[in-house]
Amino acid sequence: MRTVAVIGAGQMGSGISQQVAQCGIKVLLADIDVALAEKAKANIDKALTRLVGREKLTPAEAEAALARITPVGDYASFTEADLIIEAATEKEEVKRKIFEAAGKVLREDAIMASNTSSIPITRMATSSPDPKRFIGLHFFNPVPVMGLIEVIPGLATSAETVARTRAFAESLGKQVVQAEDEPGFVVNRILLPMINEAVFVLGQGTANIADIDKGCRLGLNHPMGPLELADFVGLDTCLDIVKVLYNTTGDSKYRPAPLLVKYVEAGWLGRKTGRGFYDYSGDTPQPTR
Ligand code: 3HC
Repeated sequence: MRTVAVIGAGQMGSGISQQVAQCGIKVLLADIDVALAEKAKANIDKALTRLVGREKLTPAEAEAALARITPVGDYASFTEADLIIEAATEKEEVKRKIFEAAGKVLREDAIMASNTSSIPITRMATSSPDPKRFIGLHFFNPVPVMGLIEVIPGLATSAETVARTRAFAESLGKQVVQAEDEPGFVVNRILLPMINEAVFVLGQGTANIADIDKGCRLGLNHPMGPLELADFVGLDTCLDIVKVLYNTTGDSKYRPAPLLVKYVEAGWLGRKTGRGFYDYSGDTPQPTR
């Protein structure tokens, strides 16, 4: 791949753009307003500068990576892209509109991928111009640090698309797990019930936030406890994924924890809003319960 277009300049889109650019590939980073894509590029600059400070990159490598990223406010330049990766909000109707719009400029030999965390690939492929060239490409946050990418073919995805997508994922220095197009794929199918259960444990008063996280950090050797991780991923994203698991399977074991719903309704979405299960306004995050 020589040029990759990324749609959505949030946490995931920025991380994907940074990783792709660091691997020598040109990136077109799009959001609804070019100012959002420019802001994301400024944040990527900060992340690259931190890597230079830690001597993980040379100043010249950081500069070259940043120069490979072009913020854009529309999809006109996507005719240049060998691969379009959608990393917008986890709402099916938003993603479908993107596939339709970006599909108009998708080259006949290019691939369209979604970084969806859990929405069925086969279903979304119907909004793309060619379901044979549509695939799930699921990154993990923070993208530059995490070693895994899930590759999820839909029912109509061709073997050639799967092979090219896997080769691209590996060219980013990541390992690949290929999953069937089932709700939550592999990792989120296991992770989100754990996070949801942690919120039930909190809501039922079994333990407080600090102890739930401490228990999982020390008892399971996880780098973050489930509530810290929920704040890191975003409580709205967590709830969206739990809802997909619940709605697509109809299995009551995936019903969202009422307290998770309440936090999202309060706008307490985690790190990105300064408050979730922890309050991030001070020097160190403080548990709120
Ligand atoms: N960009 C580049 N590098 C970064 C980074 C970023 N955004 N954030 C952290 N790093 C690097 C640091 O430079 C550091 O590198 P070094 O060890 O080589 O110097 C390393 O990561 C560790 O960073 P810190 O020392 O600052 O912080 P921690 O040791 O506390 O680690 C963490 C931070 C890597 C986020 C760790 O806590 C962790 O692994 N947490 C779990 C993350 C996780 O589970 N992610 C998956 C979420 S699920 C998902 O994404 C799927 C979605 O669909 C929901």
